[in-house]
Amino acid sequence: MTDIKVNVQNNDNTITSLEAPTDMGLSLMEFLKGNDYDILATCGGMALCATCHVSVIQGFEHLPQITDDEYAMLDTLPNITDTSRLACQLKLNPDMDNITVKIMGDGN
Ligand code: FES
Repeated sequence: MTDIKVNVQNNDNTITSLEAPTDMGLSLMEFLKGNDYDILATCGGMALCATCHVSVIQGFEHLPQITDDEYAMLDTLPNITDTSRLACQLKLNPDMDNITVKIMGDGN
């Protein structure tokens, strides 16, 4: 069993729960894009564009540690939150089961 649950908080505050594989080396950005979420990911996952910005509503403490590059990019955003991350820097892993994120990079 390598699937985890990833919850996405929609703009109307409803939650969509998705099953995500952890054995394919996917980042959260790639997974959300694959599920037709509106994420530009212009830089292709290099921590350079911040269009994959998510705010982590639940499970922030279970995420891999933030790097200086990721933090520096997030710090340029007007809508940064205390639990902001770049989804491209988060490789899906079993520790992340049941996280809830809100997509911020679409300008909402
Ligand atoms: S895809 Fe560009 S910063 Fe994540």
